[in-house]
Amino acid sequence: MRIDIVTVLPELIRSPFEASILKRAQDKGLVEVHFHDLREYGTGKHKQVDDYPFGGGAGMVMMPGPIFECIEKLQSERKYDEVIYMTPDGQTFNQRHANSLSLVENIIILAGHYKGVDQRVRDHLITLELSIGDYVLSGGELAAAVVSDAIIRLLPGVLNDETSALTDSFQDNLLAPPVYTRPAEFRGWEVPDVLKSGHFEKIEEWRHEQAMERTKERRPDLLNDKK
Ligand code: ADE
Repeated sequence: MRIDIVTVLPELIRSPFEASILKRAQDKGLVEVHFHDLREYGTGKHKQVDDYPFGGGAGMVMMPGPIFECIEKLQSERKYDEVIYMTPDGQTFNQRHANSLSLVENIIILAGHYKGVDQRVRDHLITLELSIGDYVLSGGELAAAVVSDAIIRLLPGVLNDETSALTDSFQDNLLAPPVYTRPAEFRGWEVPDVLKSGHFEKIEEWRHEQAMERTKERRPDLLNDKK
C-alpha cells in the first residue's frame, strides 16, 4: 500500500511514522508513506498557498491551484483509490473506514489548514471527507496521522501477532474485554480465576461476556449499529 500525505506542514506529521509499528511497517516494505509540501506548489515569490475568502469573514482559505497541481501530478503517476480530505465536517472516521481503506492500493490524504480549502477542491478532486471527531484541530495533519495509523496496523504482516487486530475494540462492534498480566496478585487485587484456569472455552466465554457488559455500559450505541 502507498499513502501520499499532502500538507503545508510536513514537519508536523513526519514523526509518528518514524517510530514503532508504523516505522517497522515501512521498513518491511508493507507500506510506503510519502509527504508532499504544498508550499512547493505555491504561487509567486512567497509561494503563497492561501488567500482571503470571497465575501469576507475571518481566516484564510487554501487556494485550489497548488492543491490541484500537487494532487494531479500524483494522479498522473499512478491510480489512486481515494483522495481523502481531513475536515471536521467529514464523515466520522471509524473502524469500518479503517478496515475498508486497509484493502486498497493507493490513497492521498489532504490535510487542511486555516479555514479550510476552496470548495472547488472538495467538489472536483476529493472522493472522501473524514473527521476524527467533533472537535477542531489546528490543522488536518494530526488527523491524517490518526487515520494512517489505524489503516497501516491492519495491513497483513504489520502486527506481530496476526490475530491481535481481530480482537481489537470495535472489530465486532464490541469493546475489548479487560486484560491482565503477571503478577497474579498485585496489592491484594487478584486476576480473575477463569483466566488462570487454562480452560480455553471458558476463557473465551468470559471474555465475550465482559465485552458485552462493557459495551452495554459504555457504548450501548454500538450494539444497535448494524455493520
Ligand atoms: N481538521 C481540523 N479538525 C479536524 C477533525 N476533527 N478531523 C479531521 N480533520 C480536522
